[in-house]
Amino acid sequence: MPEAAAPAPTVDPAFRADVKRGLAQPEPAVPARWLYDTRGSELFDAITRLDEYYPTRTETAIMRDNAAAIAAAAGKGGALIEFGAGSVTKTPLMLDALEPDHYVPIDISGDYLRASAAELQQDHPDLAIDPIEADFTKPFDLPDEIAGLERIGFFPGSTIGNFVPRSAADLLRTFRDILRDGSKLLIGMDRIKDLDRLRAAYDDRDGVTAAFNKNLLTRMQRELGAELDPDAFVHEARWNEMLGRIEMHLVAVRDTAIALDGERFAFARGDSIHTENSHKYGPRGARCLLLAGGWTPTHEWTDPAGDFAFILAEAQPNRFAP
Ligand code: AVI
Repeated sequence: MPEAAAPAPTVDPAFRADVKRGLAQPEPAVPARWLYDTRGSELFDAITRLDEYYPTRTETAIMRDNAAAIAAAAGKGGALIEFGAGSVTKTPLMLDALEPDHYVPIDISGDYLRASAAELQQDHPDLAIDPIEADFTKPFDLPDEIAGLERIGFFPGSTIGNFVPRSAADLLRTFRDILRDGSKLLIGMDRIKDLDRLRAAYDDRDGVTAAFNKNLLTRMQRELGAELDPDAFVHEARWNEMLGRIEMHLVAVRDTAIALDGERFAFARGDSIHTENSHKYGPRGARCLLLAGGWTPTHEWTDPAGDFAFILAEAQPNRFAP
């Protein structure tokens, strides 16, 4: 019997479409979500443990140091609804502090979601866990099991910073629509700080963030059959003062081109592909964003240096205002 051909790896058609559309822009850009294939997720995991990358350990310390105050302000019991599959340290910290009756993690990657929910269930055998495979940027219904329970949304990691302000406000409004009246939201936001520290957090000396960014190019080769020379591009982390954000770019170090599906995208030396934004917020900016998204901030916890903020907000009632 002839040997069956190995199945072709599945490639999300949206990746191909986004790359082709993005490279054709006057300022080439590829949406940051495509940084996170298996290799990209491993590299991001490594980033969170780097000396220079302060957000993960700082937010974790804020949650640990203020667990009792967070629980007192947010309320115990109810349903904890996490936008994302959950982190191995932060989620247990909040589960232990808030002691919810139900935990509902929401993620677009079903396999990863179910695996992390199963792992969590082992350590919390009495907790009802209802994972939902969904794109949380779009509205969907919460499970009937949590009807009547207090709802607390949880969106740590400063992931909100990866959305441009307009999309961030849209996302917060979607959370508001999903969680409904009377709900609360616990959200992490990274603060504006010393620019050298900010740049170092996104351009570490071991080159892990550079590898994370450049993985996008090799992913384009692997999955899309793009013809390109990864060595023709270098990683760059830029602070954009006007927009209050770190930008990741892949900058051409010489004239080069990317060929894909018969199209040719030319890059002169110094041209870049913009691959990610990470917005940083001062206290007022953070509050304005939450208010624009339909949430009233009520409590804020920070580390002693004020590097990161963990904020509790309440869903704004829909009402007329002057
Ligand atoms: C996932 N997100 C919050 C990270 C950040 O800090 O914006 C992604 C990241 N990109 C490079 N380093 C970390």
